[in-house]
This record gives sequence, structure tokens and C-alpha cells, in this order.
Amino acid sequence: MLTADTLVDLRALAAQWRARGDDIALVPTMGNLHSGHLALVAAARAQCRRVVATVFVNPTQFGPNEDFQRYPRTPAEDALRLAEAGCDALFAPAVDDVYPLGVAQATRIEVPGLSDILCGSVRPGHFAGVASVVLRLFNMVEPDVGCFGEKDYQQLLVIRRLAKDLSLRVRVVGFPTVRSEDGLALSSRNQYLDAAQRATAPVIWRVLQRMRDARKAGEGAAAVEAHAYATLLASGFVADYATIRNANLSAPSEPAAGREIALVAARLGTTRLIDNLLI
Ligand code: PAF
Repeated sequence: MLTADTLVDLRALAAQWRARGDDIALVPTMGNLHSGHLALVAAARAQCRRVVATVFVNPTQFGPNEDFQRYPRTPAEDALRLAEAGCDALFAPAVDDVYPLGVAQATRIEVPGLSDILCGSVRPGHFAGVASVVLRLFNMVEPDVGCFGEKDYQQLLVIRRLAKDLSLRVRVVGFPTVRSEDGLALSSRNQYLDAAQRATAPVIWRVLQRMRDARKAGEGAAAVEAHAYATLLASGFVADYATIRNANLSAPSEPAAGREIALVAARLGTTRLIDNLLI
């Protein structure tokens, strides 16, 4: 695996590949890579001849009271794992490379509507930070395909909308969530959980499955959601939301019409976990 230290190096490498006719898939990450990220790299390999992964803990998508400072950073391990997973190049830019005018002066990309609901209403500015950094990374790498996990479903939709609205050439592709044996969706934030919280965390997966099954059996969305909230509360979570939505995240019809999704965001102590399940 090659490591591009600067944007100039990255662009030179990408230009060489393109001159040979190789297409490029981008896997943007914030590092601290787990099997979910490595599955994304493997999926990216199946999309394009070349895979670039970026590791960048993006300051603009964290709120003032969020975990930007303590977000786990494991650069050496990340590089090893990416190389083992068959990644062709790693680009781990500094904040100044991504935001050359400084974070405060940075151009911001807003994706209205979709960014203000669910996680966006709990984390104001989060999706503007995500959209802003993803557009910057797309501009730097100029990938043919951008690969994102479906665990961050709302993020995936925001990025799809961004790409469509700005006529980006990149094809945005979502890939299935990778889970532990007990169903907990893999996330770098899982390591914040203590042993008791880790034992409780898979309740989210069971709640999502129950939401799916109840909805499929014709239960109204409000009743499904009330049951989900009650289960989460009884298990020790503080739920930000447990909701049934249409696949585009609009409010569901009664009875259901078309593809729906169950989504949960819930906190155990200070750790916020999100997950979802297409119905
Ligand atoms: O999903 C993530 O890890 C981040 O939100 C992303 C897409 C790398 C942007 O910083």
C-alpha cells in the first residue's frame, strides 16, 4: 500500500492510475478501523481497480460538547489493517490540508431538510460538517465511486443528495452494516462502553428486529415506536429516537406503502449508538 502524505502526492498517484485506465473507489474514514471499515475496503475493491482510503477525524462534524478530542486515533494500526485489506493507497491529511483557510473560514455545504431531522436535530451542524468534508475529499481524490456504510444511513442519504444536487461525477454506494455475533453494529464508539454497557448494547439490534417484525405484521408506526422506546428505557438507554420512516426518511404512511426503515439512536451513559434496519 502506498501512503500519500500530501495532496500533491495523492493527485500524482491518482493521475498515474487514471492514465492507465484504472478507476478509483474512495473509502472515507475517521480511522480507528474495525472489521466494518475493512469490509468497506473489500467491497470497494469489487467496485474499482484502485482503492484509496482516507483517515481524517473531521473537526467540523463534531459539536462543541462531543468527542472530537477523545475520538480514538490509531494511525499505525489503521495503516496495517488497510494494507492487509488490499487498499492501494492511504491518504491521512492534516486539518490544514483539508481546510486550507482554517476551520472557521471554511466554506460550508448545507444539505437542507434531510440534515435537520433525526441525528441532525440532536447534533446541529453535524451533517453540514459531514457534507463539507466529504465534498472536499471527493474533490481531492476525484473517485469514480464513494463507499459508505449503511449503519450511518442518514449520512449516506445526505451524501447521495449532495452528489446529485451538485452533479458530482462520483457514484455513491452504500454497503451493509457489519455486526458482532450478538448483533451490535460495529462502531469505533463501542469501545467507550464499559462491560455492563457492552452487554446491554445489543438490545438495540433486538429492538430493531422487533420493530421490523411488528411493522411487517401491520402494527401502526406509533405503536411500534412506543414499544421500542419502552424497551430501550427499561434496558437503561436514553433514546434520542426509535422511529419507523420511509426509506427516504420521510414520515411513513398508514398502512405502510413502499420500502421502510427502522432507526434507533440511543445513549448508554455518554456513549451514543445508532443503528437501523431496512424493512
Ligand atoms: O462515517 C464517517 O466515518 C465519517 O462521517 C466520514 C464519512 C468519514 C466523514 O468524516
